[in-house]
Order: sequence, then C-alpha cells, then structure tokens
Amino acid sequence: MTEINKAFWQDAINIPAEIRTASVPTNLQPHEIQIRTHAWGFNPVDSAVQKFPIPIMQWPMIPGVDVCGVVSRTGSSVTNFQQGDRVLATAVGTITNDPRHGGFQTYVAVDAKLACSIPARFSFADGAVLPLGLGTSAHGLYAKQYLALDVPRDGPLKHTDRWLFVWGASSCVGSNAVQLARASGLRVVATCSAKNFDYVRSLGTEVVRDYNDAGVIDDLAALLDERDVAGIFHAAGEVKTSAAVAAKMKKKPFVCTATFISDGDIPDGVTAKMIWYTPPEIIFEETTAPLFEKFLPAALESGEYKVAPPPYVVNKKGVEGIQEGIDTIAKGVSATKIVVENP
Ligand SMILES: NC(=O)c1ccc[n+]([C@@H]2O[C@H](COP(=O)([O-])OP(=O)(O)OC[C@H]3O[C@@H](n4cnc5c(N)ncnc54)[C@H](OP(=O)(O)O)[C@@H]3O)[C@@H](O)[C@H]2O)c1
Repeated sequence: MTEINKAFWQDAINIPAEIRTASVPTNLQPHEIQIRTHAWGFNPVDSAVQKFPIPIMQWPMIPGVDVCGVVSRTGSSVTNFQQGDRVLATAVGTITNDPRHGGFQTYVAVDAKLACSIPARFSFADGAVLPLGLGTSAHGLYAKQYLALDVPRDGPLKHTDRWLFVWGASSCVGSNAVQLARASGLRVVATCSAKNFDYVRSLGTEVVRDYNDAGVIDDLAALLDERDVAGIFHAAGEVKTSAAVAAKMKKKPFVCTATFISDGDIPDGVTAKMIWYTPPEIIFEETTAPLFEKFLPAALESGEYKVAPPPYVVNKKGVEGIQEGIDTIAKGVSATKIVVENP
C-alpha cells in the first residue's frame, strides 16, 4: 500500500495554514524512529508560530510538538523500539527546521530518545498530553544550569523535607513539574486558581494557594521562608510574580521559568533563568533520555505518574482538525490538554 503523508504546513506567519502532502520520512537517521501519528497535543507555541516571527524558527514549517502513535519504521541503531509499538514522543521540527520532524503530519521522524512506550490501557489522546510539558519541566528541574535536582532514574527517590515552589501548577508544564518534583523526593507548595485546588493536590502538592488572592506574594514568601526550599519553578503566567516571592524571601531562591523574562521582571538580588528546551539541550543526556527510557515507562505503567492535565479531544478529524486544536489552545485552557485525534 502506498503511504500518503498528509501534513499541516505553515508557509509563513499570518497566513492560513495549508494541508498538503509531505514526503514520508523514510530516510531515517540511525537514532530516529518514524511514527504514524494517532493523536496530537496542543501547546501555546503552536499558536505562536502562526503569528510571530520567532528568531530561531524558519518558515515554511510543519509545526506540532506533542505526538502519540505507532512506530512504523526504526533507524538502524534503535534497539528499544520496534514496528507496532505504541509511543508518545516530542517532535522538534520547529527547531530543527526539518519538515521530517514536524509533529502535525501523518508520519513524523523523531529521535528515539524523545519517545516513550505507553501502557496498553492508554488511549493515544492520553499519550499526547505529556511530551513537551514533561520534557520542559524535566529540563528545568534537572539540568545543571537550572535547578539541578536529582533525577529519578530507576524509580521515585526517597522523600526528603526539601520543598519546591511551583507557580501555575494546573498548567501542563506545572502539572508535570509537580509530579517530577515528587518523584525526585521533594515536597511541593504551588499556586493555581481555587477551582483547581483539588486537581493540583491530586498530583502530590501539599500546600496550595490561589494566585489571584490579594496578599498571596507575602503569604507565600512567609510560608516558604519556614521551609528548606530547593528553588522556584515558574510554569505559567508572568514570571515577575514568582520573582516577587523570591525577592520577599530571606534566602532568595533561584527562579527557573518556562515563560519569558521581560525587562524589569526580576528584582535586584534575585536570579532567574528561562528554560531553553531546544536541541542540542533537548536531548539532555543526564535528564530527558533516562527519564523517557527508564523512569517514565515504568511510572506510567504502575499509575504512579499520571496523565495530567486530562486530555480534552476537540475533534477526531486528523490533519483537517489541527487548526481547531490550535484555535482552542489560543483561547486559553484551565487544567486541560487540548488533543486532536488522527484515526
Ligand atoms: N521554555 C520552554 O521551552 C517552554 C515549553 C513549553 C511551554 N512553555 C511556556 O510555558 C507556559 C505554560 O505552558 P503550558 O502548555 O503548560 O500552558 P497551559 O497548560 O496552556 O496553561 C494553562 C494554565 O495556565 C494557568 N495560568 C494562567 N495564568 C496564570 C497565572 N497568572 N498564574 C498561574 N497560573 C496561570 C491556568 O491556571 P488556572 O486555570 O488554575 O488559573 C491554566 O491551568 C506557556 O507560557 C508556554 O508558552 C515554555
């Protein structure tokens, strides 16, 4: 049977995307696998690449990062996957400027290190929730230039009395940061909207505050000052809020942020760094690879690591349904991952 690779092309910013074919990525590098996509997760960046000239990116591109599907080919040096395996993976085409790596197509080539088997009970939509949120939080928590926490390589680490503060824990990045921090043996203080308190607690957060409350900065600074804090992980919203908490604290913990830092956001005396989750760092040997290879498959299988936030499937129209996924994430979500299925 001849394979047809239908793809979602963004040829330039501020023009409608076009659905047309792309070459089936059969020319795999030795370390790559080809995935027949069955679901895509949506991230704020998927909307941004339709509107803004992001310096490291080039158009035309096939955007899309979060994919889940079935392995359809393997590169010559890949030993941990075979044809037919159900996997989630991170597609990096917006960064490599290689259409073979764009997620929003029927067949995508990904680095096997950025793929992970999913349990048989998982839907493809479940698997599409995790890749970028998990990878970004892992990079911020574990890479030496950020929070440098201990990686749970062979299973969750022993619990300690050290704490991580996560601002925006109901976001996709934040939900993964909470779960990974717990797996690394830390205790968690977090913020989200009051309606998401139960959800954020269900991920292992012990102390949660509403970021909309008046006085929340002072309240957090005081309660964090009573604890041994490993750092602040800023997952969503403007980083100046987390930086203000750090500034009010006696110890001024390091702020690692998934969101952009603008001029004036970081007061004197506070150190903050934005997570730069791009190749070659994306395949950070010390963190992402061991997590995806060892910890994550086992923790997903046992249920110890949750699919969070829960997926919301907006349609099952395949590539034709992608723009609706992007439009939905662009409007903003709350403790939800937008997914489109590709039957
Ligand atoms: N640096 C990187 O490499 C990288 C990678 C991935 C994502 N990002 C960025 O990280 C951010 C989060 O991405 P995501 O996919 O996790 O987003 P998301 O899930 O779409 O974010 C939605 C969540 O953000 C929360 N939120 C909104 N405003 C907030 C505020 N002021 N304070 C605290 N929480 C707030 C909402 O919480 P409530 O509903 O509880 O109010 C909601 O649950 C985005 O800015 C994204 O562009 C960066």
